[in-house]
Amino acid sequence: MAAVRGGGDGVTRPRIGPGAGAHLDLSEVRLLVCVSGSVAALAMPHILLWLTGRLGLKQIRVLLTPMALRLVTKDSFRRVVGCEVMCDWDDLPLEDRSHVSVAQWAQVGLVMPATADLVGKLAHGIADDLVSSTLMAVSCPTVVVPSTSETTWNKPVVRRNVAQLRADGFEVVEPRTGHSLATGADEKGSMGDYRAPLIAALTRAAGHPEAVPSTDGSSTSAPVADAASSESRRNL
Ligand SMILES: Cc1cc2nc3c(=O)[nH]c(=O)nc-3n(C[C@H](O)[C@H](O)[C@H](O)COP(=O)(O)O)c2cc1C
Repeated sequence: MAAVRGGGDGVTRPRIGPGAGAHLDLSEVRLLVCVSGSVAALAMPHILLWLTGRLGLKQIRVLLTPMALRLVTKDSFRRVVGCEVMCDWDDLPLEDRSHVSVAQWAQVGLVMPATADLVGKLAHGIADDLVSSTLMAVSCPTVVVPSTSETTWNKPVVRRNVAQLRADGFEVVEPRTGHSLATGADEKGSMGDYRAPLIAALTRAAGHPEAVPSTDGSSTSAPVADAASSESRRNL
C-alpha cells in the first residue's frame, strides 16, 4: 500500500481516498478547513463550493478564528456550503468532547487563508484559541495557504516562520504575484491564482495517485494546472 507523509511527526500513513487510476476524487476524505482573519476569508465559502465540485469533497468541517468571524459569517459556510462550522469552544458538538476529537476526525487539514499571525502561532507552538489548539492536535497532512501583503510576506520573521512550518512537515502553498485587493498593486504574498497549487497540494496530502511531489510548495499536478490556467486570476 502506498503511504503519505504525515503532519510533522515523521509518521507515514496509509494512503486515503481512492485507489490507483481514480481521477481527483477525494469524496472519502474528511477535510478540516481552518480560516483566519485575512481579507481572503471573504472568498472561502466560494472556494469551498468550488473545491467540493472539483474534488468531490463531501465531509468538510470549518473552524474560524475570532478575527475571521469578523470578516465572514458562520452562515456563509453553514448555509451556503452546507458544512459544519465552529469558532468558539462552545461551538464544539456534544459528541466531540474537545478540540482533540475534531483534530482526530481530520484526514487532511487546510489552513486557508493563513494570516502572518496564524503562521507565527503554528511555527511556535502557540495554541490559544480553537483553531490553533485544534491544529496543534492534528496528526494528518496539513496544507497552509498564506495570504498577506508583500511587505509582510518578505519580513524576515515571516520567512523564518514559513521555513519552520515546512521543516515541521506542513505543505505551504507559495504565494504568487498578482493584483492585491489591499493595495491595488501587483504583489507577491497574497494567494494569487491558488487553484492549481491548492488542488495539487490537497491531492498530495490525501495521497492521491495523480499528485506530483512538491519540492518548494509551488509545483502542481499536471491535469489540474492545465484546467486552471485558462481561468481568470484575482489576488486576495
Ligand atoms: C480587513 C482586514 C484584512 C486583513 N487581512 C490580513 C491579511 O490578508 N493577512 C494577514 O496576515 N493579516 C490580515 N489582517 C490582520 C489580521 O486580521 C490580524 O493580524 C489578526 O490578529 C489575525 O488573527 P487570526 O490569525 O487569529 O485570524 C487583516 C485585518 C483586517 C481588519
